[in-house]
Amino acid sequence: MITENILVLSEEEIKEKILQKGNIPKHIAIIMDGNGRWAQKRGLPRSAGHQAGVKTVKRVVQAAGEIKVSILTLFTFSTENWERPKSEVAAIMKLLYDATRQEMKELEEKNVRLITTGRIDQLSFQRRNILKKAISRTKNNTGLVLNLALNYSGRMEIIDAVKKLAQDVKNNKIKSGQIDEKLFHDYLYTDGLPDPDLLIRTSGEMRLSNFLLWQAAYTELYVTEVLWPDFSEKDFYLAIWDYQTRERRFGKV
Ligand code: IPE
Ligand code: IPE
Ligand code: MG
Repeated sequence: MITENILVLSEEEIKEKILQKGNIPKHIAIIMDGNGRWAQKRGLPRSAGHQAGVKTVKRVVQAAGEIKVSILTLFTFSTENWERPKSEVAAIMKLLYDATRQEMKELEEKNVRLITTGRIDQLSFQRRNILKKAISRTKNNTGLVLNLALNYSGRMEIIDAVKKLAQDVKNNKIKSGQIDEKLFHDYLYTDGLPDPDLLIRTSGEMRLSNFLLWQAAYTELYVTEVLWPDFSEKDFYLAIWDYQTRERRFGKV
């Protein structure tokens, strides 16, 4: 729990504290929510909120790298988000394209490896291409893994895994008796990634919104009222501080 005495500390002091504790979560997933409300509060179009949100992404990627988080998964665009007004979807897609193009060099220099999770094949050719380029340019980097969940839906991911599994059973590649949690995990989009230790959601909503349904089975949840464009390095470190005070029992005693 976040208490008064931690809140008075500066960003640097909290960072120091969490590094001293040592158990930095290996994999952090974030539902970056509240861009629209942030813009609305200022009488701006929703796209201005998304634009401000990109700046937060940069801050959080930098902060995660500094404290040696291994994987940062960001819920960037859900499959359901296609149903927003056309102009908003276009604005988000343009930001995605521009940010990937502009930040590629910096990701490369900062030793960040970019990967994606979701049905990328359904993005336009141009967007797929710029992502592929950034993924390929950063593929040998050994620092933070930045995983963008794009056109992602947790239920669709499970359905896609089941379809692939059924195909492999049909083709005698595996026997149905071999199917267990570990094998199933390998069929998910996140193949090879460990489950998130900590899931942060900004702007107060207490729901998963179809994010990492399988993977978050034992993930620690942290919800803050702060809107994504306002989410600071200090807020990020506070979430980790809170995580470090939890006892993860995994159903045991
Ligand atoms: C999150 O902010 C960004 C995306 C879903 C792409 P929202 O756009 O959902 O912001 P709110 O929830 O309407 O404030
Ligand atoms: C989840 O936020 C999706 C992303 C952050 C990309 P939403 O704003 O789409 O979720 P709901 O509508 O509040 O459930
Ligand atoms: Mg939202």
